[in-house]
Amino acid sequence: MKQDVILEAIDVVKYFGTDAGWMSRGPVIQAVAGVSLEVRRGETFAIVGESGCGKSTLARVLMRLLTPTSGDVLFDGRQVSAIQGAELRTLRRDMQFIFQDPFSSLNPRMTVARLVAEPLEIHAPELSVQERRDRVAQLLRQVGLRAEHADRYPHEFSGGQRQRIGIARALASGPKLIIGDEPVSALDVSVQAQVINLLGDLSRDLGLTLVIIAHDLGVIRHMSDRVAVMYLGRIVEIGATEQVFTDPKHPYTQALLAAIPSMDGPVTDHSATVHGEMPSPSDPPPGCRFHTRCPHAQDLCKTKTPQLAAAQDGSHQVACHFAETLQRPHLPQTAPRKSKTAEARFALYRAATEGGTVTHKTHQDDP
Ligand SMILES: Nc1ncnc2c1ncn2[C@@H]1O[C@H](COP(=O)(O)OP(=O)(O)OP(=O)(O)O)[C@@H](O)[C@H]1O
Ligand SMILES: [Mg+2]
Repeated sequence: MKQDVILEAIDVVKYFGTDAGWMSRGPVIQAVAGVSLEVRRGETFAIVGESGCGKSTLARVLMRLLTPTSGDVLFDGRQVSAIQGAELRTLRRDMQFIFQDPFSSLNPRMTVARLVAEPLEIHAPELSVQERRDRVAQLLRQVGLRAEHADRYPHEFSGGQRQRIGIARALASGPKLIIGDEPVSALDVSVQAQVINLLGDLSRDLGLTLVIIAHDLGVIRHMSDRVAVMYLGRIVEIGATEQVFTDPKHPYTQALLAAIPSMDGPVTDHSATVHGEMPSPSDPPPGCRFHTRCPHAQDLCKTKTPQLAAAQDGSHQVACHFAETLQRPHLPQTAPRKSKTAEARFALYRAATEGGTVTHKTHQDDP
């Protein structure tokens, strides 16, 4: 494993319904069908694709919450499936999860202080009561909450604040990597930007690696360094976010990008539009899984599965037989990453938290 790679998936397959028991005579669901990827230390890596394409399943396999049907996951050079006992606790400390719906993951009977202290009790039992209290206060500050929030219960907070509590809990163990499964999609749009900026800030200040799952391409473009586009259990395109956004090579990525509402009116190039629904992962099309919806599909696509390979210009990897010959569609103008307003929000957030007192000008989700 390369030094700069913290997490690696090697041909990961996860099928559901393969058990021999009489309960599971239903169809086999090919949720993840051969995914390989590398997440580099300190980067924010995004996984994007439409509902049901296998993003959460892949995340759960990466976290060792699910055992893969075949394939391997390496974290920090260790084979995740082989980790047992005390080493497993270390893995749980090093790799944390942020949930989509923070409310359902927070015990309603625990105060914020106890919720954030709980992982500390497990992963830093050597801390004295006072040290733990100080650490909780520091974590709350880090995520933009105030010390007096510590004695309140989850229901007393807004959605954005609850997600901050979830992030503080994830940070408490001092992880190397955090996986967020749709961490902002349950939040109001105005609050999403704040939480995204918070995650960006934390990853930079703490050297954290982030794996973010999202279906919102705007979110991805703003916060990720690299992106993997998934379709029906496979990665169809992977590369630097700016590259993939400005020069998408797979018809599916082109379609996703064409579907982003344009600042200059509706989509004008319909060659990139994808119709119909994603086929069922229990009966995926042969050959290229995307061929049934692809406007450019040819006979070869119906029989031969395209493999991820570097594009001829060397920019990034794509799994399409005709990636080199496709005309790039006219894509709507999307805001470039790190737009001024996002930077401004980010600066405000930093000023507010680093000053010790949070002015909450940037925290519109506060009551
Ligand atoms: N425990 C399970 N048992 C059987 N099928 C499952 C299970 N978990 C997921 N699936 C199926 O696997 C496929 C992929 O699901 P997954 O939740 O990974 O998709 P997703 O990309 O995260 O979708 P969403 O964007 O809606 O969260 C779906 O068809 C889903 O119904
Ligand atoms: Mg999901």
